[in-house]
Amino acid sequence: MQTEQTQVAIIGAGPAGLILGHLLHQRGIDSVILERRDRDYVIERVRAGVLEQGTVDLLREMGLAERLDREGMRHEGLYIAFDGTRHRIDLAGLTGGRAITIYGQNEVVRDLIEAREATGRPLYFNVSNVSLHELDTRRPFVRYIQDGTARQLRCDFVAGCDGFHGVSRRSVPEGVFTTYERGYPFAWLGILAQAPPTSDELVYSLHDRGFALFSMRSPAVTRLYLQVDPDENLDDWSDDRIWNELLVRLRTSDGWEPAVGPIFQKGITPMRSFVVEPMRYGRLFLAGDAAHIVPPTGAKGLNLAAADVWRLAGAIADHYAANDDTGLDTYSARGLQRTWWAQRFSWWMTSTLHRSTDGSPFDHRRQRAELDYLVQSKAAMTSLAESYAGLPLA
Ligand code: APR
Ligand code: PHB
Repeated sequence: MQTEQTQVAIIGAGPAGLILGHLLHQRGIDSVILERRDRDYVIERVRAGVLEQGTVDLLREMGLAERLDREGMRHEGLYIAFDGTRHRIDLAGLTGGRAITIYGQNEVVRDLIEAREATGRPLYFNVSNVSLHELDTRRPFVRYIQDGTARQLRCDFVAGCDGFHGVSRRSVPEGVFTTYERGYPFAWLGILAQAPPTSDELVYSLHDRGFALFSMRSPAVTRLYLQVDPDENLDDWSDDRIWNELLVRLRTSDGWEPAVGPIFQKGITPMRSFVVEPMRYGRLFLAGDAAHIVPPTGAKGLNLAAADVWRLAGAIADHYAANDDTGLDTYSARGLQRTWWAQRFSWWMTSTLHRSTDGSPFDHRRQRAELDYLVQSKAAMTSLAESYAGLPLA
C-alpha cells in the first residue's frame, strides 16, 4: 500500500479544513487535506454569506482577504421587519464598530483553495472510502482510495472537518460522544436572482405567512429566502410563486420591496440544531459542521467553523513548538462554550422570526411583543448586535 506521512491529516476541504490547512502552513506545520468531492463541486456549492468581524479579521491576518476586501460588502447594520415596518439595528454603533461582511461562502472557499494550491501542499480531491484508525494512540492513520489505488496516510493528529455527513464523527467508539439535537418545523427555500439589491442591508422579516430574508451577493445579485414546510417539494415552487410570496412577505408600508429578476439558482435547506460533546477523541479533533450544526437564521455556521480551527491551529502549534498541550486539552471545552452561545442565539433568532404552524394566538402575540421590545430597547438591540456581529475569537 502506498504510504504518505504528515503531521496533520485534515478530512474535508470545506471552510474548516481549508482555513486550518492554511493556519498550519503559516506555522510551518505539514498537513494533507482529503476531500471526497471534486474541485468544481466544492467551489460552486452555494451556501450562506455572512462573515462576522472576527472571521474577516482572521482572513486578513492570513493574507487571504485581497478579493474579500475588494468585493465583500461591509454592513454596519441590519433590518428587522414586522407589521409592515422595517426597523434598523445599528450593529457597529452598538458594538464599538464591529460589522459583518457579505461575501459568499463559495467565494471564501475559492480563495482558500487557490491559496492552498499556491503553497504546493497536498489537497487531494475525489478521494473515497476514507477510514480513520488508531485514533486513541500517538500514531493514528487514515486509509482512503484515490484513482482506484488504496493509500495510507500516517500522521500525528487527525482534524475531522468533514461536515455533518462526514466519516470522522462516526469513527469513534459507541459511548464516547453525547449528541444534542433539535429539529424545527420549517425549512428555507433560497434563491439567487439577477436583480440589484434595493436595500443596502439585510432584511429579516416576520409576516403572518411566515419568515422571509432579503440578502445579497453583489451589486447585481440578490439572495432571498422563504420559510417553507420541511417536506416542501421544490417542483411545486414556480418562479412566479416564489416572487409572489417573497413580495408579500417582504414589502413594507413605506413602499420598499425587493427588485424582481431572473432566478438562476434555487434550493431547499432543512433546519436543525446539533451539538456533539466532546469535540475530541484521542488524536481526533472535530471542527465545523462535523461537530455542530446551527439553523441559518443567526448566520453562524461558517463563523463557528472558523473559530474552531483558529483555536485548533494554535493548540497544535503549541504542541510542536513548546511541547505544550494545554490548548489541545482545552480545545473541546472552549469550543463548546462558543458553540452553545451560538446555538442559543441561532435558536432565539429562529424562534423569534418564524411563524410556527402549531403556535397558539397567545404565542403569536408574545412573538410580536418580543420583536416590539427588541426594536425599542437599546439593551435588547445591543444583545442582538453583539451576537450577530460576533464575539472576538477566544
Ligand atoms: N471524506 C472526505 N471528505 C468528506 C467526507 C469524507 N468521508 N465527508 C464529507 N467530506 C467533505 C465534504 O465534501 C465537504 O467538502 O468535507 C467537507 C465539509 O465541508 P462543509 O460541509 O462546508 O463544513 P465545514 O468546513 O465545517 O464548514 C462549515 O459550511 O455547511 C456550511 O453551514 C455550514 O457555513 C458552515 C460551514
Ligand atoms: C445569506 O446571505 O446567504 C444569508 C444571510 C443571512 C443569514 C443566512 C444566510 O442569516
